[in-house]
Amino acid sequence: MSETELRIEIREERGDRRQYMKLLLTGDESEEMVSKYINRGRLYVACLDNRPVGVCLVTDEADNQVEIKNLAVDSRLRRHGIGRQLLDFVEHKNSGKTLILGTGETPSTLRFYYGCGFRYSHRIPDFFTANYPNPIIEEGVTLADMIYLKKEAGTTPINRRDKGK
Ligand SMILES: CC(C)(COP(=O)(O)OP(=O)(O)OC[C@H]1O[C@@H](n2cnc3c(N)ncnc32)[C@H](O)[C@@H]1OP(=O)(O)O)[C@@H](O)C(=O)NCCC(=O)NCCS
Repeated sequence: MSETELRIEIREERGDRRQYMKLLLTGDESEEMVSKYINRGRLYVACLDNRPVGVCLVTDEADNQVEIKNLAVDSRLRRHGIGRQLLDFVEHKNSGKTLILGTGETPSTLRFYYGCGFRYSHRIPDFFTANYPNPIIEEGVTLADMIYLKKEAGTTPINRRDKGK
């Protein structure tokens, strides 16, 4: 655990999800794209002192898989373990299932997911260039392909299996 890990409460939002649009747009910058899935699956909200500071939207997919459609943490509170706690929570809620997600080739995002036990699965060439109106440049990388990562059930490192209740 990071020395500066913040203790958050995670709850499922059962009301209006559009109130989290600002956070969701930091995980996926196209409102049109977010609107396609915002009311699907389950939306988990991380709260710090009752204030929403992170979101994770997951949907059930075929073949015993759960897809993380969006994961975002308030930019002022990153690197305090909130993203990891949200992922641990989702994994715990979906034990026995494989987690998958698609993301851009942003170095820090890939480092985050690999650190959380995800591995490369496959890519959809030119997904971002074909589906987003403007080029997305992050950390000097122009996003082109959608990179799919996956985490098979039961692959959480032993020293982290007791987290994410
Ligand atoms: C990706 C994101 C969700 C990570 O959330 P976070 O709360 O900052 O991540 P954590 O603090 O739980 O990080 C866990 C570990 O991942 C790695 N990591 C996280 N962010 C990193 C970064 N920017 N650079 C390098 N490593 C990073 C580190 O190993 C970190 O552990 P440490 O801080 O103890 O070294 C957050 O940066 C974010 O909201 N980004 C914008 C939206 C986005 O890109 N979402 C993913 C695509 S859907």
